[in-house]
Amino acid sequence: MTKLNLQVIDDFLPQKYFNNLKKISKQISWGPYMDYFDSNESTRHKWFYRNIGDDEELKNILIKNIRNKTIFKIKDFSLLHITLVPKGEAWPHTDTGDNFKHQMVLYVDGDVDMNKGTGFYVPTETGVTLNTAVGFYANRAIFFESGVWHTPLVYASNNDTSRISIVAQF
Ligand SMILES: [Fe+2]
Repeated sequence: MTKLNLQVIDDFLPQKYFNNLKKISKQISWGPYMDYFDSNESTRHKWFYRNIGDDEELKNILIKNIRNKTIFKIKDFSLLHITLVPKGEAWPHTDTGDNFKHQMVLYVDGDVDMNKGTGFYVPTETGVTLNTAVGFYANRAIFFESGVWHTPLVYASNNDTSRISIVAQF
């Protein structure tokens, strides 16, 4: 099973750029179905997303900061989405593919709350169990290996505030 190798970096983007990103995220009209990962299959994403991989400025600033602040020699993303996670069910899953190994979640907008963050699982004899959490904090980026079981923790929070973040695979 994939090891966690979690990295958490606060103040990930320059503040001026992050503020702009937050403003942009508030202008998105989410939904209703076209951009919603929804399925009867329990393994499918159940959140809203927009592909932002064609935003060259955003892509370049993310790549620049990943190169400067992590050990990853990233050239490009195989997936770059902005996502909105509503309160729903716990959703332990892995995101694996042939053309990426790493995941980044950059928190953009939400409550400063452990349960607006992300939870990580470790294997047990009978499956997986929730073991580590990284709470929501604006402009916090988290990096982990794509084979690690994880879930948005929004399902466990006390209110219905959703969480907006950028999700990248590379
Ligand atoms: Fe995921």
